[in-house]
Amino acid sequence: MHAGTGPHIAVTPPGPRAEAVIARDERYLSTSLMRTARLVAASAHGAYVDDVDGNRFLDFGSGIGVTILGHTHPRVVTAIERQTTQLIHVNSCDYFSLPQVAYAERITALVPGAGPKRVFFSNSGSEAVEAAVKSAVYHTGRTGFVAFTGGFHGRTMGALGLTSNAAVSRARYSGAMMPSVAFAPFANPYRNPFSGDCSEAALRYLEDEILDRVLPAENCAAIVFEPIQGAGGYIVPPTEFVRGLERICRERGILLVADEVQTGFAKTGHMFASEAFGVEPDLVCLSKAIAAGLPMGATVGRAELLEWESNTHENTLGGNPVVVAAALAVLDVIEEEGLVERAAEIGERITAGLGELQAAHPRIGDVRGLGAMIGLEFVTDPETREPDTPARDAFITTCFESGLLVLGAGASSIRLSPPLVLTDAEIDTGLDIMADALGAIET
Ligand SMILES: Cc1ncc(COP(=O)(O)O)c(C=O)c1O
Repeated sequence: MHAGTGPHIAVTPPGPRAEAVIARDERYLSTSLMRTARLVAASAHGAYVDDVDGNRFLDFGSGIGVTILGHTHPRVVTAIERQTTQLIHVNSCDYFSLPQVAYAERITALVPGAGPKRVFFSNSGSEAVEAAVKSAVYHTGRTGFVAFTGGFHGRTMGALGLTSNAAVSRARYSGAMMPSVAFAPFANPYRNPFSGDCSEAALRYLEDEILDRVLPAENCAAIVFEPIQGAGGYIVPPTEFVRGLERICRERGILLVADEVQTGFAKTGHMFASEAFGVEPDLVCLSKAIAAGLPMGATVGRAELLEWESNTHENTLGGNPVVVAAALAVLDVIEEEGLVERAAEIGERITAGLGELQAAHPRIGDVRGLGAMIGLEFVTDPETREPDTPARDAFITTCFESGLLVLGAGASSIRLSPPLVLTDAEIDTGLDIMADALGAIET
């Protein structure tokens, strides 16, 4: 375990060993992958990632909000090791297994909403969304959906149909992806496309222009939303907006599906972001942090929405015993280490530090967040708020070369989702590196 030793750059990354791996990668892997930095990870423990050239990076991205317990948390490693010696696979299409049942009991009790709930296990965030989409169609008999501009729900044809954060992901697939989706503007306090209050105006548009004209309620199965837009740039909507979505769904008999793939599990200072907004979605999609980096998705919801004919929807590897053993350990650690509360403290300290950086660097147009999910947006000028993509990209590279991993999102934002085991000293180290990087990109 190397936690606490601080980041360390031995050779400017990517070093020679990293370059050699990248050259082979570039020869054989699909080129559709968009890489943020030329990091070739060799090992990772706690808040640190070591690359193949002996560099050590402080990880403020957690592999897109996945390793919230830090990398290779001992409790998770032990749970995986134990399970692998007992049972690695039993397909849930045909048989039963205890870890699945144990996890189902716990997660259904944790997800917001009174009344009985059920869970469907899968292998990724996209699949968690697919299950919600299929359940909504099956149970309402309707095929239309409302999603939000700038939203991200995955790459499979159903989830992609709900996704609109970047034109390139949809460009060649119109007609192939799920077609019947009407997009409404998301309530974005920093980039409000309306003249009035962003929540009120976005809700009015949704009701008057979408549901009263384009996609009437009798054709709309569900409204699918991210409580915080993740890939879109960590955009935190006002509470009234999210509550308004719930009200509209209840009034019009439409299902509310919260995609908590990115917001899920403690990082917002709440176990789930829906709790922060005080809403109870009909279905909640989970993945990413759920199993500390092992592939797992879960769709959790009102019991009747996951009561459907046998063979309607299933998969081979969903709820794999090893993966679920890790997921059970994740829940234990969150509880025992008080990570929900720690996320709020981490969020406060980082946000305060970024506020000081913003005051000194007008290129940072906005700092926003909920708990330890924090976004900062680069602009060319704070008045015009013109996105400054080159400055954002230079900031990522400079941080990387100085030993700090941060991830981009949206046109010109950074998304910070650090591990919730960060010490205050590590937070300050990260802030110092960001301060230096801002100075460097301005010279
Ligand atoms: C909100 C949200 N939904 C769905 C997905 C898709 O998850 P996956 O990449 O595991 O398919 C993501 C991935 O970033 C996400 O952020």
